[in-house]
Amino acid sequence: MAGRSHLKRTQIVGTGSAVPEKVLTNFDLEKMVDTSDEWIRVRTGIQRRHIADEKTTSATLASEAAQKALKDAGLSAQDVDFILVATVTPDMPFPATGCLVQESLGATKAAAMDLSAGCSGFIYALSLADALIRSGNGENILVIGVETLSKIIDWTDRNTCVLFGDGAGAVVLTPTEEEGRGLIASHARSDGSLGALLMLPGGGSKNPTSLHTVEQRMHFIKMNGHDLFRPAILSMVEAALCVLQKAGLNSEQVDLLIPHQANLRIIDAVAKKLKLPREKVYVNLDEYGNTSAASIPIALDEAKRKGVIRPDNLVLMVAFGAGLTWGAALLRV
Ligand code: COA
Repeated sequence: MAGRSHLKRTQIVGTGSAVPEKVLTNFDLEKMVDTSDEWIRVRTGIQRRHIADEKTTSATLASEAAQKALKDAGLSAQDVDFILVATVTPDMPFPATGCLVQESLGATKAAAMDLSAGCSGFIYALSLADALIRSGNGENILVIGVETLSKIIDWTDRNTCVLFGDGAGAVVLTPTEEEGRGLIASHARSDGSLGALLMLPGGGSKNPTSLHTVEQRMHFIKMNGHDLFRPAILSMVEAALCVLQKAGLNSEQVDLLIPHQANLRIIDAVAKKLKLPREKVYVNLDEYGNTSAASIPIALDEAKRKGVIRPDNLVLMVAFGAGLTWGAALLRV
């Protein structure tokens, strides 16, 4: 979506993340469903995930991550003019979780809204915020990816309950006129014809919540993981190559790939097709599982804090998720 010919460019000036304290290990899951630590580790790469307690919601996690990102940027909530929250697990259908975050931060000068693009939500939100900044309609934008997927997981379904986790990641975006720095290019696509592969069928206008939808467990995630596997790899590779082409760069110039953290086998296949060695690929799904829209901003914040991302690094972020949606963004730090 992003072009490259304007004077103003978007840069990330602060990052933050938050995950619930409670950890659920593969061994804990062995006691809940017919699974094993070995199966989960070998088939997915996941070892642990963080799970929200009753009081923790997407808005509380998002607010915590946002506060840290603002502090990192040296800005106050009053400086924020737009809050964009990517999530498929809002606190409720409305008001938007963005508005709950706005209130909790005291960001009284900010517009706020949510965006639903599955695990690609953060990349989609980044692209939109970039467009706002480059068109002069935003100065300090908070983009947050947050999920409390544990609240929509069927804890009796071993096909899904071992995969997901909760968390939030936030970035603060501002304009820069510094040549060659910031968001260089982004790309996003969708294919609704494959939407049924990953969905939450109940609770919307098609299947309003009723005794029937609850009895049929339609308020939980339904997923055909096997049929998602190949499209996930192909679409992430396509998106990555597309942003590199838009930027006139090649994969050898990438310093760090931050892929959506769904499955280590998917990540390895994407890296291989992009000819990127493992040391250039950021992986933390062993600790968090798949946190959907939160996975890339959590990884970005963690990589920055650990010093994995260094000044001038070229960072390629790429995601795939429900919708189906996919996308990528290229960032010069
Ligand atoms: N523990 C033990 N066995 C399990 C299991 C679990 N938690 N989950 C599934 N299985 C079983 C299946 O029932 C199946 O058994 P069967 O052969 O007797 O029918 C077997 O393992 C293989 O299932 P399959 O679906 O072919 O495994 P897989 O290698 O494709 O791995 C996923 C399953 C879900 C891990 C993998 O397909 C995946 O990650 N897909 C992408 C999902 C994704 O990324 N979703 C989010 C998009 S953002």
